Amino acid sequence: MTEQALDVVVVGSCMTDLVSQAPRLPKAGETIHGHKFFIGFGGKGANQCIQAARLGAKTAMVCKVGKDFFGDNYIQNFKDNGVNTDFVGQTSDAATGAASIIVNSAGENAIVIVAGANMLLGSEELHKALPSIRQTKVLACQLEINPQTSLQALQMAQEHKVKTIFNPAPAVPDLDAGFYTASDVFCCNESEAELLTGFSVVDVEDAHRAGQELLRRGCRSVIVTLGPQGCVVLEDKESASKHVPTTAVTAVDTTGAGDSFIGALAFYVARCPTMPLEEMARRANQVAGVSVQAAGTQTSYPHRKDLPADLF
Ligand code: RIB
Repeated sequence: MTEQALDVVVVGSCMTDLVSQAPRLPKAGETIHGHKFFIGFGGKGANQCIQAARLGAKTAMVCKVGKDFFGDNYIQNFKDNGVNTDFVGQTSDAATGAASIIVNSAGENAIVIVAGANMLLGSEELHKALPSIRQTKVLACQLEINPQTSLQALQMAQEHKVKTIFNPAPAVPDLDAGFYTASDVFCCNESEAELLTGFSVVDVEDAHRAGQELLRRGCRSVIVTLGPQGCVVLEDKESASKHVPTTAVTAVDTTGAGDSFIGALAFYVARCPTMPLEEMARRANQVAGVSVQAAGTQTSYPHRKDLPADLF
C-alpha cells in the first residue's frame, strides 16, 4: 500500500482501444474501407489518470482489468507512466474492457465500449483503497464502471474533504441525484449537458443555461466543454458564468480530448488550489488542444516537458 502523498486518485475504467481510421463513419448495415488500424490504451478513467501523471501529478488508479494479455499490458502501461498500481485489480471472471473506435477524416469518432472487468470494481476494492483516497488532493470519477461504485467513491472522498471531479461520461438520462451534490467540479461536454438537463446545448449561451441547471441540482461548480468553442465555467449561482475560449487547431483525432482536459484539470486543482477555476480551465483547454493534433488517445497526450513553461 502506498505511503506516498498523492495528488490525484482516479476511480474508473481501463479499456483496450481498437481504433480504425476511415474517411467517414459507416451507416447502419454498411461496410466501408478504412485505411489504418491500431490498438492503444484507453478508457476514460485511465486516460484522465495518465494525462494528470504526464503533467507531473503523483497519481494512483483504482480499477479492475481482466487476468488476460490486455490486463497485463495495461498494468505495465500504468507503471511506464509512473501511475501507482497498488489498487489495480485483476479478475478471471471477465475480460479487460474494450472500446471499438472509428475515427473519420474530420477527427470525429464513434465508440462502442464493452466494459467487462470494469463493471466488477465495487465497494470492497474502494475500502481497500480508502487509505489512499482519504489522503489524496483530488479524486476523479466517470461512468464507465458501475455508477454506484463511482458515487460511493465520490462520497468517500467528500467525507474526507478531498476535492472531487466528476465527469458524467458516457452520460445517462436518469443520473442519481447524489452525483450532483458529490461533485466539487462537475465537468461535462455539450451532449452530456444536453442529455442531463434536457436543454439543447450548441453554443456558449446554451452552455450557461445548462450549467445553471446543474448548479441548481447541487454541484459546487460546473464546467461545460464545447470543443473548438472552449468551455463555460460556473462557480456559483450568483456570479456570472465565464466563457473560456480556446485557440483554433487542426484536429487529427479528437478521441479522448475530454479526458485530457479532465486529467489536466485534476492536475491544476491538486497542484494550484488557489488558482481561479477559469484559469485552470484555460490551461486544461491548451493541454487538450495538443492532444487532438495526433492520432490515438493516450498516444496523443502531452508530457510536461513538451508544453510551454507558462502552463506550470
Ligand atoms: O474518452 C475516450 C475513451 O472513451 C476511449 O479511450 C475509449 O476507451 C472510451 O472509453
